[in-house]
Amino acid sequence: MRLDKLLEKAKVGSRGEVKKLLRSRQVRVDGHVATKANLNVDSHLQQITVSGRVVQIESESYLMLHKPAGVLSAVRDKKYQTVIDLIAPKDRKDGLYPIGRLDRDTEGLLLLTTNGPLGFRMLHPRHHVEKTYYVEVNGWLGEDAPHFFEKGVSFSDGTLCQPAQLELLEVGQSKSSAHLTIREGKFHQVKKMFLAYGVKVTYLKRIRFGPFWLDDKLAVGAYRKLTNEECDLLKDYLD
Ligand code: URA
Repeated sequence: MRLDKLLEKAKVGSRGEVKKLLRSRQVRVDGHVATKANLNVDSHLQQITVSGRVVQIESESYLMLHKPAGVLSAVRDKKYQTVIDLIAPKDRKDGLYPIGRLDRDTEGLLLLTTNGPLGFRMLHPRHHVEKTYYVEVNGWLGEDAPHFFEKGVSFSDGTLCQPAQLELLEVGQSKSSAHLTIREGKFHQVKKMFLAYGVKVTYLKRIRFGPFWLDDKLAVGAYRKLTNEECDLLKDYLD
């Protein structure tokens, strides 16, 4: 939430009074003087003080969902169940939305938040957030495959992907599995990368998004709040 909005919501003062407090350098965020009214802050992730007194309001929501196949990474849809439909009404806070998208048939880690600017920053190419997928394909992944992905896969339309890391897990004539780490989020990227190698993805599950790993205790379709330790990792994406 914007710093000025948070201070108003915490009843520190009216809009005008908050402006004055910022200008007179009385507001600090984690010990640093903050003068920017539009700074994105969260009073549960950071210590916000006005003239030395701590200000706190209800936290934004940060959830980790184990997305099942068949569910859309959207807030609402006329035809399909969405990831928001999987959230219990008590946790379905206003503005809750998924940070990024997984295809309808893809499973795995999806973060949800009410903190719009934070989600936007996590997806910004500047942050190079790494995503790791567990992938099963319908054919052989040869010893040349890691190099093929590392040198940058190109699609038939000329699109060139950034280097990606492939770790082979099991290899067979009609089924292979691997972990693939990418730093971009092109449409159907993982599926298209494997198609460019000559095999089809038969199962796709995201296991990592930046510093977050899918909690293996989360059943498919289940979600939980991020732990305090995980919330600390979000600070890098606040501003
Ligand atoms: N790449 C894909 O092809 N699908 C996803 O859901 C995510 C990455």
